[in-house]
Amino acid sequence: MSSVLEHLLLDVEEQQQQPKIKIKNLRKESDDGKLEILKGITVDIPKGMVVGIIGPSGSGKSTLLRALNRLWEPSSSSVFLDGVDICNLDALSLRRKVAMLFQLPALFEGTVADNVRYGPQLRGIKLTDDEVGKLLLMADLDSSSTNFKDKSGADLSVGQAQRVALARTLANSPEVLLLDEPTSALDPISTENIEGALMKLNKNQGITLIMVSHSIKQIQRMADLVCLVVDGQIVEVLKPNQLSQAHHPMARRFLELSS
Ligand SMILES: Nc1ncnc2c1ncn2[C@@H]1O[C@H](COP(=O)(O)OP(=O)(O)OP(=O)(O)O)[C@@H](O)[C@H]1O
Ligand SMILES: [Mg+2]
Repeated sequence: MSSVLEHLLLDVEEQQQQPKIKIKNLRKESDDGKLEILKGITVDIPKGMVVGIIGPSGSGKSTLLRALNRLWEPSSSSVFLDGVDICNLDALSLRRKVAMLFQLPALFEGTVADNVRYGPQLRGIKLTDDEVGKLLLMADLDSSSTNFKDKSGADLSVGQAQRVALARTLANSPEVLLLDEPTSALDPISTENIEGALMKLNKNQGITLIMVSHSIKQIQRMADLVCLVVDGQIVEVLKPNQLSQAHHPMARRFLELSS
């Protein structure tokens, strides 16, 4: 084998092994410096995985998630996307690749279609009605035989609005979705719809999902790996079917109370 070819193959191998997101000794103090919110989080998130994050309230789950697309500024060399320090990336393009879906959807003024078109429009791209319809369908909203696209965002149920928020995010072709309790405000049917849409996006498009949830059952339905966060640290990383084997006393207590 020629050495050039050998190098190329090695490069490909390295890329395949490289985590999608690498977190290395990530720390955060409260603004007044009195509280250590994150105490040196280190974890690799493989590409295409569904990673669940669970842990007691106030343990730092949302803070951890928000570092990954720089909703706060982590110190350099503590978060990497495809091997690149996220502090060296343009914040807006990072947020297109690593997008956040919040607990409560905040739609912009205007119609459903206006919302879905928003991101591409910022880059001078106008999505066709057909493209808008496809994005809505990916978020489990069938608008083919209704005028759903033309409805005002203000007239939607929370479950519908959350799926429109998902479609709006998908219009930016994200590679990673950060989900902070995305279904905690939804009824069981809307929850099932969102879960189904997210799992399809993961399976069909290889989008990596990192999801904070207080529902152990939801994590067991969806995740490949679960990080248990206690007091600003990842105390254990387990497969969803191994959660009952957690060792950390606080993690055990949390799991017992949650199940
Ligand atoms: N900017 C800040 N300044 C001071 N304290 C903060 C700040 N942001 C978060 N905190 C504190 O950091 C801790 C972690 O908060 P965080 O919101 O990440 O927890 P969480 O695990 O997401 O909790 P929950 O499950 O209730 O959503 C809490 O004690 C919170 O009060
Ligand atoms: Mg939170």
